Order: sequence, then C-alpha cells, then structure tokens
Amino acid sequence: MLVLGIESSCDETGIALYDEKLGLIAHVLHSQIAMHQQYGGVVPELASRDHIKRLVPLLEQVLIANGLAVSAIDAVAYTAGPGLIGALLTGACFAKSLAFALGRPSIAVHHLEAHLLAAMLDDPSLQFPFLALLVSGGHTQLIAARALGDYQLLGDSLDDAVGEAFDKTAKLMGLPYPGGAKLAKLADECPAEDYKLFPPFPRPMTDRPGLDFSFSGLKTHALVTWNKSEKNMRAQRAIAYAFQQAIIDTLTIKCKRALEASSSQRLVIAGGVGANQALRTALSAMMAKRAGQIYFPRAEYCTDNGAMVAFAGFMHAQAGNFDTDDTVTVKARWPIFQA
Ligand code: KG4
Ligand code: ZN
Repeated sequence: MLVLGIESSCDETGIALYDEKLGLIAHVLHSQIAMHQQYGGVVPELASRDHIKRLVPLLEQVLIANGLAVSAIDAVAYTAGPGLIGALLTGACFAKSLAFALGRPSIAVHHLEAHLLAAMLDDPSLQFPFLALLVSGGHTQLIAARALGDYQLLGDSLDDAVGEAFDKTAKLMGLPYPGGAKLAKLADECPAEDYKLFPPFPRPMTDRPGLDFSFSGLKTHALVTWNKSEKNMRAQRAIAYAFQQAIIDTLTIKCKRALEASSSQRLVIAGGVGANQALRTALSAMMAKRAGQIYFPRAEYCTDNGAMVAFAGFMHAQAGNFDTDDTVTVKARWPIFQA
C-alpha cells in the first residue's frame, strides 16, 4: 500500500509518500516563512493562497523523482485539523478531489496525532502506550497515548504555547520572525560565566500540583529584564539562556510528574520545539535516571511536514479508518482526545 500525505494546516506545504514495505519514500516541504516574515507572523489568507500554488507542483515533483504514476497512490491522507481553516481547506479539497478522481479512499488526519506518531518514522520499536510531550507553536500538552486514536489530555497550556513564548521572547529582543530557533541558538552560545548575569527566571506553575503550563509570564519577565539591561549581544545571550533554562526545567518537572502519575516508562517528544537540542539533552538525562526510554523524531519531522501525515494516514489505513463520504470537513479547533 502506498499512502500520499498532505500537510497544509499552517505555513508549510508538505507532501510525502509512505510505502507499506519501503517506509517513507519521499518527503518534500515548501516553507512560507520568507513570505510571512515582513508581517512578523503568519497571514492566514496569504498562507491559503500559497498552499494552492504549491500542492500540485510538489506532488508532481515527488512522483517524477520516484518514477511513479499518480495511479500508484492507494490512499490519500491529509491534515483535517486543527489549524488555520483556509489553509486546511486547500489541502483537504485537493486530497479529497484527488482520491475521488483516482477512486481511492481518503483519510482525515489529526495534525497533533501526526506529530505524536512522527517518532515512529525512525524508530518502529516505539509502541503504545506512551506519554507524549507535545511542544509546538500552538500547543504545550502532556498526553497519555493509549492506542491509535485513543488519547487522554493530562496537561495543557493556559496561555502562550511554549513555541509561541520562544517566538515572542525572540521578537522582543529584536530577532527576526520566527525567532524560536534563533533564540535557542543564542542560548546555546551563552558563555558559562554569563549564565547568572541575570537572576534566574521563574519556573511557572511548578510550585503547585497539576500538569498545566503557563508561559506568558516568562515572556513578560524576559521583557522587563531586557529593558533593564544594556540591550547588547551579551544581554541577549544571557536572557536567551535564562529563558531557555526556565522552559526546560519547567517541562522536565512536569514530564517527571506525568510519568509518575501514569506509571509510564516511555516518553515521546513531539512538535517544533522538540527540535531544541538543550531540551532533548535535559529530557534524555531525566529518562536515563529513571531507566526509561525516550523517543524524538529527527528535527525535520518535529516541525510541520508531510511525512508525519503520510505515516499517520498509513497507520489509520491499516486499522481500516477511512473517510466515509466525499464531504470536505476540516476543523480549526479539534482536541486530541476527540481524534
Ligand atoms: O510544530 P511546529 O512546526 O508548528 C506548529 O504546529 O506550531 O512548531 C513551530 C514552533 C515555532 O514556535 C518555532 O519557533 C519553534 O517551534 N521551534 C523551536 C525550535 N525550532 C522550532 N523552539 C525552540 N527551539 C528550537 N530549536
Ligand atoms: Zn504542527
């Protein structure tokens, strides 16, 4: 079975092919970052229009590169939510039309479930059940993944998602959009003697029970510290470091708590912030101490991509979960426990 995966929930157009025997055979991505940069954030209407332009050429590109005819596709998986409604509609309409024209089934994929399953692309030894930390631009969640399509939300962000906090903190120090990865780079470049240039940042909501997160205060703390500083590269690096450490400590404490509460020994990291190397190192050390296993998708499968959608589609195809009609249905909001 060959499954086409289509991702268009935000500002990346992703197309991938997952083959039952060969695994992932193709995966291409067009990022709209350059287009949205001048606006300092994603402009939804521009995102939708760009997806429309990219979908067909990207599909042609992967088919030609692999010497495949479009008729070789056995099922078409697409991100049906959550995400920007117009952007989702472009991928969903394309996917459902193509499936209809080919006489093949289509498969609606939950974007967050696709992020959670992405770690299995490189490591098929990963099995359900597991605990997942989903850290992206839109979500900070702790999820008990019990089986395919069976998820329990254990903790959620009360305000800014962790990736959003990274991006906003980067922006307030003048870094270009999207600044998350650039802020992380500055943090990693901070010399050890400057780690304590500023008093440590708070570890929000770690002093009370529960698994929810709140990162908007941390961004305000960064702003106040930045405004009082000399606003030079040294201050930028030290603030980036203190901010990143606060995030890492907070996430590590909450993961530990969730592992204890769920008696789980398997932790999966998913979403764009999962590409953060310092976070990976800290969580790996925590899991090693507990003699547990930790799984990360490779960095290119952490941020939005078509590979994770093709793979999630393949998993659902194996389980017999196909769309039951030709109606195009997408959901801007779609909690993972309803996946
Ligand atoms: O999963 P993703 O690609 O898109 C969403 O579905 O949100 O995540 C994007 C987020 C952005 O906020 C970006 O700044 C952040 O992930 N990000 C990082 C790093 N790489 C990407 N944050 C911290 N450190 C990184 N290395
Ligand atoms: Zn995402």
